[in-house]
Amino acid sequence: MVKKKACIFISGNGTNLKSIIINSRDPNFPIKISLVLTNNKNAGGIHYAKKFLIPFRIINFRKKKFERIALKEMVEKKIKLICLAGFMKILSKKFVRDFNGKIINIHPSLLPKYKGLNTFKRVLKNKERYTGCTVHVVDEKLDNGRVILKKRVEIYQGEEENILKKRVQNEEHKLYSMAIRKVYNPL
Ligand code: GRF
Repeated sequence: MVKKKACIFISGNGTNLKSIIINSRDPNFPIKISLVLTNNKNAGGIHYAKKFLIPFRIINFRKKKFERIALKEMVEKKIKLICLAGFMKILSKKFVRDFNGKIINIHPSLLPKYKGLNTFKRVLKNKERYTGCTVHVVDEKLDNGRVILKKRVEIYQGEEENILKKRVQNEEHKLYSMAIRKVYNPL
């Protein structure tokens, strides 16, 4: 199988990056992670790029500059897909349009509910019984594009935010790679 070359954008801990890297070692996984880009020189996820010998680049986020450098790096590496994994910046409409459906993202809620930040705080405040995570195609609006896969997680009574977050993130780690397989495996 010829794997599509992908770039992962991160800003933080990179636990989703780690799980995609591990899954991508399967010869039948449809993508190869050829590049990791981050706007944050202190992103914990850089550690996984180093550990698994994946080229990475830290680029200061001033939108036009970030996108220009990112694009150059990605053209050089023949990147066909971008996975946002805890990337905390908003890409320009032009950048998203130019990649036309080839950018996907993971969001810690059951979209279209709870777009934006602080999803766990808000679901708990609203006494929801369920939350979860969603992998979706990125379009020009925030947390808005076509849903690829969602996973529902029950919220336990009196559950604390950090415990809920951990449980949802455990599901994210499985869901992201399942979504990549769903979109890119020609089966
Ligand atoms: C995840 O919860 C993801 O849903 C959100 O940011 C978090 C990133 O975590 N977009 P990590 O950097 O992958 O550990």
